[in-house]
Amino acid sequence: MTGLFITLEGPEGAGKSTNREYLAERLRAEGIEVVLTREPGGTPLAERIRDVLLAPVDEVMNPDTELLLVFAARAQHLAEVIRPALARGAVVLCDRFTDSTYAYQGGGRGLSLERIAALEAFVQGDLRPDLTLVFDLPIEIGMARASARGRLDRFELEGRVFFEAVRNAFLKRAAADPARYLLVDASQPLAQVQRALDALMPQLLERHRG
Ligand SMILES: Nc1ncnc2c1ncn2[C@@H]1O[C@H](COP(=O)(O)OP(=O)(O)OP(=O)(O)O)[C@@H](O)[C@H]1O
Ligand SMILES: [Mg+2]
Repeated sequence: MTGLFITLEGPEGAGKSTNREYLAERLRAEGIEVVLTREPGGTPLAERIRDVLLAPVDEVMNPDTELLLVFAARAQHLAEVIRPALARGAVVLCDRFTDSTYAYQGGGRGLSLERIAALEAFVQGDLRPDLTLVFDLPIEIGMARASARGRLDRFELEGRVFFEAVRNAFLKRAAADPARYLLVDASQPLAQVQRALDALMPQLLERHRG
């Protein structure tokens, strides 16, 4: 039995949280230990950093500050939750991870990808997700789904250009490494999205068995 690190990525309202629960149920039904977590956050301290990242405030957050906070939270999350869970042989289902950093701070904010890669190596060593599901959908559909939830966070207040850049960054990363990424058409009805996840189950069970 080997730990499996699965990340769910994509823009706001794509269905990451919904499908994370669905996958967790399916895996638990097979008797597998599943750790459900999210970024930024996932530990009490990292959740406090999340609050700082998401709360709209009058002061403009410098993009480098934003990038460093994301990785600070990630260091805590890896040490306290992700690495121990993988070492026990659990499946970790993480709602957003470093692909979101490339998409939001890289694509959206325009920070250098080399700099993000340097921090990725510093904080993660050679740990990368075993599988990354990228939930893709047109910006306006995702925003409509997300805004139905109420008050917008500091990222959701960004405009269309920002979110197009975020979406394109996710698509580019998925296309560059088809062995690690599975692109999911998240504009489909939920039942169809979940059929795509069902199709993935035999492969996940086999990889978890080792
Ligand atoms: N395929 C789908 N079709 C229609 N509605 C969906 C679909 N997937 C999710 N939803 C709905 O869209 C809303 C947003 O979904 P969810 O919270 O899972 O997205 P998310 O990717 O986690 O968003 P965020 O990044 O903002 O956390 C929810 O109300 C959910 O029920
Ligand atoms: Mg969510």
